Amino acid sequence: MGRNPFLLAPMAGITDCAFRTVMRELECGPVITELVSAHGIEYASRKTLQLMEFDETQRPVGIQIFGETPEILGNAAKVVQEHGADFVDLNFGCPVPKVVKKGAGSAILRDLKAVEAVFKSVRSAVEIPVTVKIRTGWDHDSRNAAEVAKIAYEEGLAWVAIHGRTRAAGYSGAADWDFIAEVKAASKIPIIGNGDIVTPELAVSRLRETGCDGVMIGRGCLKNPWIFRQAMGLMRSGQVPQVQKDFGRLFERLHQAFGLIAQGDQPERFVMLQIKKFASWYSTGYPGASQFRRTIFQHETLEATLLAVFEYFESIAALVQADTSGEAFLMGGHG
Ligand SMILES: Cc1cc2nc3c(=O)[nH]c(=O)nc-3n(C[C@H](O)[C@H](O)[C@H](O)COP(=O)(O)O)c2cc1C
Repeated sequence: MGRNPFLLAPMAGITDCAFRTVMRELECGPVITELVSAHGIEYASRKTLQLMEFDETQRPVGIQIFGETPEILGNAAKVVQEHGADFVDLNFGCPVPKVVKKGAGSAILRDLKAVEAVFKSVRSAVEIPVTVKIRTGWDHDSRNAAEVAKIAYEEGLAWVAIHGRTRAAGYSGAADWDFIAEVKAASKIPIIGNGDIVTPELAVSRLRETGCDGVMIGRGCLKNPWIFRQAMGLMRSGQVPQVQKDFGRLFERLHQAFGLIAQGDQPERFVMLQIKKFASWYSTGYPGASQFRRTIFQHETLEATLLAVFEYFESIAALVQADTSGEAFLMGGHG
């Protein structure tokens, strides 16, 4: 994990190669690709290869895979290793019916023998570290994260990341950090806690109070892109550093980074949509955000979009972002 214990959580459709590069510049710790189908890897489609792409600045970078059988996951892990990733991450947390129905994602948590078989197969397939991201359990009565962590330790995995909700809970309720702390206390393997970290203070207090080896931040950095830098500063100096909220520079970087990965016959349209999406998330909690969101999606060119974005964010950069942690925000995902 190095010296930065604040990992960027994998988020499908969001934490692509461009976004991970920009977040690394903003001092996040290790990064992981969104989930990639082990079947897809077998057929090496263009889309799959694109999902697995990363650049050197992102290291340490993991590629996350999901699939049903130990063999398929083992084979996919080999490809991940050949691809040059620093570690391979197993997705045992995805609650989405389409994935779970096939026995992949969080469905594997229901069967500890299957958990063990996957760990064995993947570990013996590669030399790079193997990590896993899980839920606390399938449902409240079968929360078995501690058992999964024990098997992961015995099978030689490098860490277990725990999203503090059950599969049954989806994204409702609060992540159960007391439970994560219990699992950490009972485990010999490094544990990464995850869920609902929305401020640098919370990032550092969760790390310290649970004794976790790292904490993973997902949605929090979509509202506050400086959360990692602030958390690192707070951990080092005891104070949240004053970061310059330079939205202009941030959007220039995003523009550039998305431009580099844009493919297809309408690359500018792709970049425009990305800028609109991130601008609408980053505006959360600032004055005029709902009006801004209503109008930003109406622009039809990248140039007009950027102009509107620069204008709005310049007007709010010196203002305080309201706490919106009580409001529903991206209540669905693959982990
Ligand atoms: C839109 C979205 C997509 C996600 N995709 C993935 C994924 O591909 N793999 C994964 O392990 N978790 C995925 N997750 C789950 C996050 O990694 C994380 O566990 C969850 O959002 C809770 O952390 P947070 O409250 O910091 O966001 C996704 C979450 C969201 C909101």
